Amino acid sequence: MTQVKNPLFARFLDRYGARNEDRGNGELRRELLAGLSGRVIEVGAGTGLNFRHYPISVCEVLAVEPEPYLRNRAMEAATAAPVPVRLINGTAAELPAEDGEFDAVVISGLLCSVRDVSAALTEFNRVLRPGGQLRFYEHVRSRDGSFALLQQAADLFWPALMGGCHVQRQTRATISEVFAIETCRGFRFPPSAVLSPVAPRIIGTARKVRDPESLDSSAVLPDLQRLKGRGLSSATTGIARPRAGPACSARPRMPRKNRPRGRTGESHACRGVRMTIGSARTVRCWNRPQAG
Ligand SMILES: C[S@@+](CC[C@H](N)C(=O)[O-])C[C@H]1O[C@@H](n2cnc3c(N)ncnc32)[C@H](O)[C@@H]1O
Repeated sequence: MTQVKNPLFARFLDRYGARNEDRGNGELRRELLAGLSGRVIEVGAGTGLNFRHYPISVCEVLAVEPEPYLRNRAMEAATAAPVPVRLINGTAAELPAEDGEFDAVVISGLLCSVRDVSAALTEFNRVLRPGGQLRFYEHVRSRDGSFALLQQAADLFWPALMGGCHVQRQTRATISEVFAIETCRGFRFPPSAVLSPVAPRIIGTARKVRDPESLDSSAVLPDLQRLKGRGLSSATTGIARPRAGPACSARPRMPRKNRPRGRTGESHACRGVRMTIGSARTVRCWNRPQAG
């Protein structure tokens, strides 16, 4: 198995990784995990900052973390989790799991660091049951051209300092090559970090489809239309249906002072559509095709 050892970065992450949890990041983690149930595999668990946010409808989390120092820290976090969490060594491209074993794969801040993102996504697809979900919260390349240039410059040294983390990956597009993206919201976090190359972020949900080969990575809404074209209604897929409505005004999920704003994120001016999921009315922001 590929070894991932980043002792300096691991200690840095352990010391400073939680500094934004009470300033909105914890809220984003809750959003990432909301509504999950059954068996979940979390890949690249770090120090286990997601663990305490799992809903109790999850019956088990298999947390994969290849870095030994971080895995030990995560084991401590697991003891305080509201659901059973089991830590295991492994990497995104070689998960220690059977085909179709899990209801959901969870990742946060992972795809920036893995060497081969497509291989990792294919592996996530393998361990998911048919119709299983990928929940993602990742930092990405900004759709603001000037900011993307800054990220390009930062990428010359950032990976060496930050455990191989790349800051200009177009992660939304890569995910949509393997999964059908259902929701994807772009924003900047922390909102006050004007120059941080990891501030532009996306959070969302994607679903395993029968035939990833047929996916067209050019847009989000067409993903939905493709699923419907296969005879799946929004009721069976849980996918939101577009309704006529004004441009997206995302329902606030965190205190106003922490809410994403500014120019450097991916889609602050969400050109979205109002959606209905089941009977609950919610509003989703759909990223423009070239984002992330
Ligand atoms: C920025 S940290 C994010 C940690 C955690 N997910 C969080 O949200 O706080 C990235 C994590 O991915 C792990 N990682 C790096 N490369 C990996 C790989 N190829 N497979 C699995 N995990 C990996 C690192 O060891 C680290 O724990």
